[in-house]
Amino acid sequence: MRPLLMGAALAAAAALTPITAAAQGQVNVICSALAEWCNGFATGFTKATGIKVNVAMKGSGEALAQLVAEKANPKTDMWFGGTGDPHLQAAEMGLTLEYKSAQLPGLRDWARKQAEQSGYRTVGIYLGPLGFGYNTELLKKKNMPVPRTWGDLLNPVYKGEIQVANPASSGTAYTMIATLVQIMGEEPAFDYLKKLHANVGQYTRSGTAPIKAAARGETGVSISFIHDGAGERAQGFPIETVTPSDGTGAEIGSMSIVKGARNAAAAKRLYDWALTPDAQVIAAQTRSFQIPSNPKTPLDPNMPDVAKIKLIDYDYAKYGSSDERKRLISRWEKEVGNLPR
Ligand code: F6P
Repeated sequence: MRPLLMGAALAAAAALTPITAAAQGQVNVICSALAEWCNGFATGFTKATGIKVNVAMKGSGEALAQLVAEKANPKTDMWFGGTGDPHLQAAEMGLTLEYKSAQLPGLRDWARKQAEQSGYRTVGIYLGPLGFGYNTELLKKKNMPVPRTWGDLLNPVYKGEIQVANPASSGTAYTMIATLVQIMGEEPAFDYLKKLHANVGQYTRSGTAPIKAAARGETGVSISFIHDGAGERAQGFPIETVTPSDGTGAEIGSMSIVKGARNAAAAKRLYDWALTPDAQVIAAQTRSFQIPSNPKTPLDPNMPDVAKIKLIDYDYAKYGSSDERKRLISRWEKEVGNLPR
């Protein structure tokens, strides 16, 4: 073999061979998925490439706030997971890098659409429908019915028994507001949120805290992504989920590379890898049961069956736009979050 060809062959072999020895560089990631998945994902990538992954966990809204704060001098290379709306906002604000992964053409429609809508500054990695979680034992004990519609949550029987996150920090809670506005219209949706406020025992920082509280019997009902209920159930907690029969929205969990990232080459490798079945299968292995964006990733029986859910045609472009997201969150803070209970 001529030296040049031999060099090329060795380089190709090196690209395919997992390098488990010394770290081959590093990448700094903000992860807005569950900690078990974030850690499994980081370990899997390091095993496959030798590149070290430094992970910081943050809710979707907080992650966006950090990217804004770091804009002039980014320390984060990649933002992995979290609801798609703030990823679209980051794209619009010029915080994230345009990048077309070679994996893109093989992804599900909604994942590719998310990429197209952002000018290829983000991409869908999973889909998750919004619904309610409830503690089966607590509901029985306190004689509370299972809520089946958005309207059901206003029943005074749930006073102090509902937890939902704060939309400024949590993408889950913002998805709820955007969903209600799309189902009811903005004025009725805000009237509804004010009435719901009377039944809310606590607004949490993280979107997954309410279903963890419901699973542990600290609250009867949570407003949550239903895959997070499956994750708690898989740990043996008495939790069930339901999606409102009057319709609901879904998140397109997304991933973006930070513009000006110091470790951009490593971030691109991580981005490409995150879209492969090898990487995506780690989600279900760590009890994260969103629907994966690569159709070749095996499905798990714990994942939601969207055919059985009345999903609205969520307008991701509109509700992921910077102005709309900021406006709805500040309206909620002024008119709902500050109300006495
Ligand atoms: O499973 C964790 C999860 O529900 C993701 O599906 C979602 O993208 C993220 O948490 C949202 O978290 P937060 O509401 O805290 O931004």
